[in-house]
Amino acid sequence: MKISFAAPRLPHSGTVVCAVMEDRKLSPTADHLDKASGGAIKRAIAASRFTGRSDETLMMLAPAKLDVSRVLLVGVGKSTSIERNQRQNRGGMILAQLNAVGEQSAAVAVDLVKGHDAARAAADLAYGARLRSYRFDKYRTKEKPEQKPSLKELTFLLSNTKAAERQFGALDKVAEAVFFTRDLVSEPANVIYPETLAEEARKLASLGIEVEILDERQMKTLGMNMLLGVAQGSARPPRLIVMQWKGNAGARNKAPLAFLGKGVTFDTGGISIKPAGGMEDMKWDMGGAGVVIGLMKALAGRKARVNVVGIAGCVENMPGGNAQRPGDIVKSMSGQTVEVINTDAEGRLVLGDALWYCQDRFKPQLMINLATLTGAIIVALGHEYAGLFANNEQLATRLIAAGQAVGEKLWRMPLADAYDRLIDSDAADVKNIGGREAGSVTAAQFLQRFVNGVAWAHLDIAGTTWSKKDAPTVPKGATAFGVRLLDRLVAEHYEG
Ligand code: BES
Ligand code: MN
Ligand code: ZN
Repeated sequence: MKISFAAPRLPHSGTVVCAVMEDRKLSPTADHLDKASGGAIKRAIAASRFTGRSDETLMMLAPAKLDVSRVLLVGVGKSTSIERNQRQNRGGMILAQLNAVGEQSAAVAVDLVKGHDAARAAADLAYGARLRSYRFDKYRTKEKPEQKPSLKELTFLLSNTKAAERQFGALDKVAEAVFFTRDLVSEPANVIYPETLAEEARKLASLGIEVEILDERQMKTLGMNMLLGVAQGSARPPRLIVMQWKGNAGARNKAPLAFLGKGVTFDTGGISIKPAGGMEDMKWDMGGAGVVIGLMKALAGRKARVNVVGIAGCVENMPGGNAQRPGDIVKSMSGQTVEVINTDAEGRLVLGDALWYCQDRFKPQLMINLATLTGAIIVALGHEYAGLFANNEQLATRLIAAGQAVGEKLWRMPLADAYDRLIDSDAADVKNIGGREAGSVTAAQFLQRFVNGVAWAHLDIAGTTWSKKDAPTVPKGATAFGVRLLDRLVAEHYEG
């Protein structure tokens, strides 16, 4: 789909999208069309339930005396000053409506706000439409043209096209990164496994990101036996992806920010094997890694002035003949010994060694990890909020605010000594599961044992990485939840 910005001249074909305010108050463009059509717009509104409340819509077909094929009226409510995220949602919703009716080209009149605000509004609408336009259809080889999204051209009409183009350009870099993450997460596990995921990350070198891939032997030398124990049941060898973006030349020696992701390319559970029903979902158990790789692309793509390390621990959790057994004790890179009670609690084993390696090598100012870590977080929060665990108040506050701003919401969960006692082991320093209770918290407590006092946050994204229903800027499927949030966090607090 081509997105462009043009001077406010109404098209002669396709759909015109224009705003109506609360109580049926027409925008300048809607008013112009009403007059040109001998009052057709007002008659259509009067014949419907549409009143102009925020995000109500009314689609008019073949309106009298106009040469366009449709007019889409979009309610914008009372106020023209809305959250940017709301405007992006509106853009996504408009795109979905145009595709639903099979439209091929449309022009959106941005005529309620002026000057700089118009550029911002157009860029945000366009960004929302772009985000919603994502589709993972490379394996649908028999699809007929009429089954594919119809919209080819979306144009935003305003005077200040240059400013809108510039602002959209930066946002579109983030959208590109979001799509990259969605692609990685959507791919099945026979296509994306540790080696191929690492190859995808290596492509980021063309953007100026330094990419290192650690193999089994190198991890063995480092003592990452906890991560390697998860990998040993699979025919696919593990990889540790280490990416560095040095966008702040002036602060080359300043401690970097570090982002880490769980990259379990398929989670069968290992010997503690999962039930068959729904196991195919576990292809997206590398969602955390996908977000970290996409985030690096976003930051490099928009040349963020910040130094960042991205690490993804990539393994396949399989019950092969050499698989780790329940009760095995491994020595982690940190030196702590770990009793593996349940081989399905593998994400924490992978991330524990990745976190330790990260703080040991990079001495980062903070570490944020993302992981589809526990089913229990879905029980607690459903699919609306991701779980946030943090040992640092400022970081927690900043993350929650960034999530709110981009519509990727976080809910803080507790960390406490009493929970930590639940993972003390009789046989080793720590065991990899607590009981049935507070499953997401004990998983977080496990991770915390490997952060060595660094400012740290853990996002449990098990409930938000994949969506079974469409949302305004997120079609169903892989969401890339976390890319926009962390890009925003960096932009807001750590650049310059
Ligand atoms: N990858 C799963 C968590 C998960 C479950 C993500 C459902 C997305 C949807 C994780 O590795 C896992 O298996 N966790 C176990 C932990 C348990 C064995 C303590 C779980 O949640 O059941
Ligand atoms: Mn598991
Ligand atoms: Zn898992």
